[in-house]
Amino acid sequence: MKILVTGGTGYIGSHTVVELQTAGYEVLIVDNLANSNIEVLNAIEKITGKKPVFELTDLKNTDDTYNLIRKHKDIQGVIHFAALKAVGESVEKPLEYYHNNLFSLINLLGAMMENQIHNFVFSSSCTVYGQPDVLPVDENAPLKKAESPYGNTKKISENIIEDTVSATPLQAIALRYFNPIGAHETALIGELPIGIPNNLVPYITQTAIGKREYLRVFGDDYSTPDGTPIRDYIHVVDLAKAHVVAIDRLLKKKNKKAFEIFNLGTGNGFSVMEVINSFERVSGMKLNYKIVERRPGDIEKVWSDTAFANQELDWKAEKGLDEMMSSAWKWELELKKSGIV
Ligand code: NAD
Ligand code: WQD
Repeated sequence: MKILVTGGTGYIGSHTVVELQTAGYEVLIVDNLANSNIEVLNAIEKITGKKPVFELTDLKNTDDTYNLIRKHKDIQGVIHFAALKAVGESVEKPLEYYHNNLFSLINLLGAMMENQIHNFVFSSSCTVYGQPDVLPVDENAPLKKAESPYGNTKKISENIIEDTVSATPLQAIALRYFNPIGAHETALIGELPIGIPNNLVPYITQTAIGKREYLRVFGDDYSTPDGTPIRDYIHVVDLAKAHVVAIDRLLKKKNKKAFEIFNLGTGNGFSVMEVINSFERVSGMKLNYKIVERRPGDIEKVWSDTAFANQELDWKAEKGLDEMMSSAWKWELELKKSGIV
């Protein structure tokens, strides 16, 4: 079984390629390397013993995308990670985000339909829920107005997929990730933020290693037990495994509807302070941090209702917060040792 993984040299994509190859799938990666490094292919080979086939293609380009899929007609399914994902940057450059994330999706789906490839897994995000009215949030919760152009590309993408499913034989699963963190246990692959990280965990590890002076904790006056916001952090390897289950479900025609949506989280919410405490516990270090103003656009609390994914996919996130933080720290130490960043 040959699976196309777009964005497969990126953070979540690379961990998914490892799990797909371990499960016996043949993988073709397509990426334009806008936010990843070709060296990831060697790391995947070190972990799995097999180097995935790689095509350098920009999915925004219609001709290139169609030619790519025509060349690899024997693909049985597609997992589509490729997207730009920096929330703040999307506010500054909305057209770049709409162009990249939506053209890529439209080109890919069009090329898939032309070549009778009908199984599609899409990377969506809990950002589509905004601040939910009810917690934990389940898949039927109303979607809120997007806080950013990035978030809006995920909402629009889900609509595009839904409409394509209605009009064609496409079978699709959208996976709404909560907050993926951590790295592979080998520390050979992990998150490689370019420039100053926006997300909490890379900022914590970069502060601890000395690349940043201190972590700014964005607000401690929220209506939560310690005043800092709560998120559902999920280990990237748990997340990656869910993609193998999802593509398998489509290939074996076990899906119950032509378009299904699943939350991927642990169901547990942790505050920013709890994440810092976990980091200090597993690293044995004190983290330098300061409480500062709230970050505009941040929501107060969100965590996932995992019942649907647990039952229907027979998948459950297994790794706890300390394991997530220790793997993130091990990866940061490895980056320093190898001099990559
Ligand atoms: P990432 O930036 O590490 O990986 C995305 C990959 O897509 C990169 O390798 C990039 O070079 C590639 N890419 C971007 N535009 C492309 C294009 N036009 N053509 C070809 N390749 C292109 O990001 P990630 O964290 O691995 O995220 C993967 C997916 O999951 C994205 O769709 C993202 O929006 C979604 N997601 C991520 C998070 C998160 O917190 N990391 C949360 C929810 C959803
Ligand atoms: C987590 C918590 C911050 C950095 C973002 C996207 C979302 C999804 C996941 C893709 C918040 C606090 C952070 C820092 C801090 N991505 N924080 N100091 O905001 O939940 O979600 O990534 O779909 O769409 O919006 O993740 O890691 O940025 O923040 O105090 O330097 O950490 O305020 O409470 P977030 P995050």
